[in-house]
Amino acid sequence: MGNESIVMRVLFVTGANRGIGLGLTVQSLERGDQVFAGCRSPEKASQLNRLQERHGDRLVVLPLDVTSESAITSAVETVQGVSDHLDILFNNAGIAGDKSPLGRLQAGEMLDTYATNAVAPFMVSQACLPLLRHGKRPVIASITSRMGSIADNGSGGWYGYRASKAALNMLNASLALDLADQGIIAVVLHPGWVRTDMGGQGANLSVDESVAGLLKVVDGLTQTDSGRFFDWRGKEIPW
Ligand SMILES: NC(=O)c1ccc[n+]([C@@H]2O[C@H](COP(=O)([O-])OP(=O)(O)OC[C@H]3O[C@@H](n4cnc5c(N)ncnc54)[C@H](OP(=O)(O)O)[C@@H]3O)[C@@H](O)[C@H]2O)c1
Repeated sequence: MGNESIVMRVLFVTGANRGIGLGLTVQSLERGDQVFAGCRSPEKASQLNRLQERHGDRLVVLPLDVTSESAITSAVETVQGVSDHLDILFNNAGIAGDKSPLGRLQAGEMLDTYATNAVAPFMVSQACLPLLRHGKRPVIASITSRMGSIADNGSGGWYGYRASKAALNMLNASLALDLADQGIIAVVLHPGWVRTDMGGQGANLSVDESVAGLLKVVDGLTQTDSGRFFDWRGKEIPW
């Protein structure tokens, strides 16, 4: 990875109202970037709304349920009304899905997890391509999980979640190859085990630590990194 310094970026973050997505939004705004922050219920996104009072036009809060194709189209149209490009797309929105033990898993719940964690980020990426093509060293960074690594699965369980993140990783592998000649870098990033609603309070990383690492990794990416699987420190994870 290189260390190209980039001044002001235009980002799109999904699931921006809490957890890692909120952290990505906060730190990006603090360093002077412009952020389009997607969330399911902007009227309830109190922390985003407070940030907007401080950062004004540099933060645009968008309604976006990532599983809705019409919502994705509307959100991208809103971005296009404000900016002619995107530099970084963070596909962050995700769910843990059904944590039931083996024997009680439900197909519908597993499909919902796949829809949110794998299909949705792919559809958001696809819809953002026209904007990313005009970005400066554009990056699609999809927040996956080490739990999506088949090679690293030493403890089992988490069927729907693990499979959805493995699927996200595979979708990214194709995306990276298909976008190589357009200069768009596509990576999957594991944020670490982070203290959020999903990660729980016993996790070893704060949102700030994880997000600082993720932003540093994204800043340092070059075309040769496209299609790869890194953690928040830039360490490569086996598939
Ligand atoms: N925390 C960890 O230790 C950890 C570890 C590995 C990977 N990750 C990944 O990191 C990402 C962020 O996780 P987190 O820990 O910040 O989780 P979180 O605190 O539970 O936040 C999840 C975010 O995703 C949003 N979301 C869920 N479904 C959505 C949908 N259909 N449309 C739009 N937004 C949706 C949520 O919005 P609502 O508020 O509307 O529900 C919320 O903003 C996820 O992809 C997760 O799999 C987390």
